[in-house]
Amino acid sequence: MNRRTFLQAGASAAIGTLAGSGLAFAADAEIELSAGEPGAVISPHIYGHFIEHLGGVIYDGVWVGRNSSIPNVDGIRKQFVDDMKRIGAPNLRWPGGCFADGYHWRDGIGDASGRPRTYNFWQRRMPAGTDATETNQFGIHEFMHLCRLVGAEPYIAANVGSGTPTEFHDWVSYCNAPLGTVSLADKRAANGDKEPFGVRYWGVGNESWGCGGTMRPEEYAALYRRFVTQFPAYREPFLVATGPRGHSADGDIGWTTGFFEAMRGFEPPLGFSLHFYTDLRPTPVKAGNFQAPEWYEVLLRGVRLEKVIEDHWKEMGKFDAAHRTKLVVDEWGVWYAPGSEITPAYILSETITLRDAVHTGMTFDIFNRHAGKIAMANVAQSVNCIHSLFLARGAEFVRTPVYHVFDMYRSHMGARQVPVSNPVPELNIPALAGQARLPGLSASASIRDRRLAVTLTNPSLDAPLSVRIRLAGGARATEARGRVLTHQDMRATNTFADPDEVKPAAYPVRVVADALVLILPKQSVILVECDIT
Ligand code: AHR
Repeated sequence: MNRRTFLQAGASAAIGTLAGSGLAFAADAEIELSAGEPGAVISPHIYGHFIEHLGGVIYDGVWVGRNSSIPNVDGIRKQFVDDMKRIGAPNLRWPGGCFADGYHWRDGIGDASGRPRTYNFWQRRMPAGTDATETNQFGIHEFMHLCRLVGAEPYIAANVGSGTPTEFHDWVSYCNAPLGTVSLADKRAANGDKEPFGVRYWGVGNESWGCGGTMRPEEYAALYRRFVTQFPAYREPFLVATGPRGHSADGDIGWTTGFFEAMRGFEPPLGFSLHFYTDLRPTPVKAGNFQAPEWYEVLLRGVRLEKVIEDHWKEMGKFDAAHRTKLVVDEWGVWYAPGSEITPAYILSETITLRDAVHTGMTFDIFNRHAGKIAMANVAQSVNCIHSLFLARGAEFVRTPVYHVFDMYRSHMGARQVPVSNPVPELNIPALAGQARLPGLSASASIRDRRLAVTLTNPSLDAPLSVRIRLAGGARATEARGRVLTHQDMRATNTFADPDEVKPAAYPVRVVADALVLILPKQSVILVECDIT
């Protein structure tokens, strides 16, 4: 069924009033929200972040140095801090990624001028004539300072691939031991921080099947146990074990099975990492210049995440019926082949367009709908890398369209997920391999006190979609507010020269009896908020 026949079939059930016009209209779709039967809390940590010592992420993106003419707070780029605060960034994952399994934390403490220069994993990807040598000017104290400025919880990925359990435990003690206990706490104080950092989230390695050690799941499980058994107990930790490469052709279920099989009879981790890149690197799809099939290809690959979450959750349930272990999607984003870097040495920086913003909305809707399974998620990465919210180069700084989606979805953070029945038919779309089918509407909703937030994405490049959002169970909405992120040009982006080309605008939503009615422009992300009685 296409949108036109669906419209005819459902017209009588979906007569509403066109927002602001007073005209009667037939909605293309009626979705239903059960606000009276809310589900799991959407962890604020689902809207989390990630910064790695890679290209221009830390150096320049985050750290400009204390003597920089770029506005900074003790060396940290002020605009980055301000904007991360503005969107309520709940956490920050650091120092990698692949960098983490080559990082030795002691290199990043003490007098900055005396810190060693060390090898960076990403050297292998640097263009000829450029160098990734790590200066260690940004270490654990600088990272914690950033977290405090933003109000974000630290999430540290520890070195399993080339480190030892002792090095890991020392790092935990250095971070978390109270002053006057172990010597490492005194050392932390001597380096400027008397108060313990109180780090709760610890990743035990990263991509241990790849750059983190090319291990088999049972090898990693054995190492995981060695790394955590003597964990210093200053604060109850939330330990995250390395999980699958979810964007593999087979979803990498074998990793999940192998890890939990090898963990039978042992204490399972609270978090199990899942990496899911919408990986366009093996395709001709470009970041900034594309046609309709390439728009849809990105979204089509992006929504596979939902099945990957469901499959791994089901597999985990075979070993842990109570689901004590939750998923931590600590790397996600659209990853294009090189070619649109803001400067050659800022490897993996990409042009971010409206397409990536629409992908972000659909991804967040998936996370929200599966809130009970997901403890945390971290975009890869917050600045100058892959699916960025910001691009920064010297004094230049811009918020990408993805930033605005994070801003629009803030209302869901910590609210309770509301079930949405969404009967909108799939779209027939052109994709790289020919015709395919994509959800015609992406939606999720949440409620906090009596305030309802609904997010909707219309992925179509051709047609607007009129929607009637019916509130089940006799709920009534008072005044509704809308915001839209869209642009006439599907390739629209924000640049240093034109930073506000793509930005949200207020959008009309009408309350009609037990429903909210609105028209979703083509290629748009929408937020609707209202109070209900
Ligand atoms: O985010 C870039 C890289 O992607 C990370 O370092 C690694 O974990 C993943 O492969």
